[in-house]
Amino acid sequence: MHLYLLGYPLGHSLSPRIHNAALQAVGLTDWHYDLLPVPPADLVAAMQRLRQPDCAGGNVTIPHKQAVMSYLDALTPAAAAIGAVNTIFVRAGQRWGDNTDAAGFWEALQQVFGALSPREAVVLGAGGASRAAGYALATRGWALTFVARRLPQAKALAQAARGWGSPVARAVPWDALAAASWRPADDALVVNCTPVGMAPHPEGDPWPEILPLPPRGAVYDMVYNPRPTRLVQRARVAGLPAADGLGMLVAQAALAFTRWTGRPAPHEVMWQAVR
Ligand SMILES: NC(=O)c1ccc[n+]([C@@H]2O[C@H](COP(=O)([O-])OP(=O)(O)OC[C@H]3O[C@@H](n4cnc5c(N)ncnc54)[C@H](OP(=O)(O)O)[C@@H]3O)[C@@H](O)[C@H]2O)c1
Repeated sequence: MHLYLLGYPLGHSLSPRIHNAALQAVGLTDWHYDLLPVPPADLVAAMQRLRQPDCAGGNVTIPHKQAVMSYLDALTPAAAAIGAVNTIFVRAGQRWGDNTDAAGFWEALQQVFGALSPREAVVLGAGGASRAAGYALATRGWALTFVARRLPQAKALAQAARGWGSPVARAVPWDALAAASWRPADDALVVNCTPVGMAPHPEGDPWPEILPLPPRGAVYDMVYNPRPTRLVQRARVAGLPAADGLGMLVAQAALAFTRWTGRPAPHEVMWQAVR
């Protein structure tokens, strides 16, 4: 049985390592997870490949997370609300789209910070990962501030978050954060959903030097290469609980694995594969 990661360009990805280790560990030795680089013009053919009986689905990444939706038979409520698919699975001959980033993000948050009651979260960025984090937090009653370079995108996300259940959701321009002319609540959770700080630019830090991190807050950085990221290091030096995005990567993968195979994911094996 085949599983694929659809995206373009597909650089280095940890997903084959995680899933092939997990498939072996549960005894699915004739299953394989492979990269499938799909230029946008080839998406139709790739989706036909996913409909073959020897294919159990796969993952979807940039730039296809939205485009694949029109080729699927059904969407989970999370994928429909977020408007993006990162996991395709088969049920009763139908191809379903799911978004395991949102649930994976929430699971990772709880693993590192314990039980969390709703408060303010500052979400840096307004792309796909911000949508997933925003959905996970908004549906649990968090107040949200989206900070982005493209203000209209952040505003649209804030509006969606209010629809998902956030009591207060707003957009703040990136420049306002950079100039420290806006500051979050003292106990805010900061979630970095931008690639700032990611290798090969590990010196990057999305939080401005001139603005202290929220003194009673916490930091979740979706970036996981390098470990720890500069933002996570800085938060720890300030005495704040902080984690990078490897936990989310494993958690969203584990949820996808169960969708495909119907089996509990071997979490420890998946962690070992990426540590
Ligand atoms: N840990 C995990 O499991 C996990 C899961 C998903 C994503 N991620 C990570 O999260 C990050 C974002 O992914 P994504 O899918 O949301 O990407 P995306 O859809 O391309 O969105 C990226 C967002 O970051 C902003 N941004 C990029 N460079 C910036 C900069 N130098 N300064 C300020 N803002 C900047 C973009 O703003 P513009 O629109 O202005 O460019 C956009 O709002 C990536 O590093 C990805 O690897 C991790």
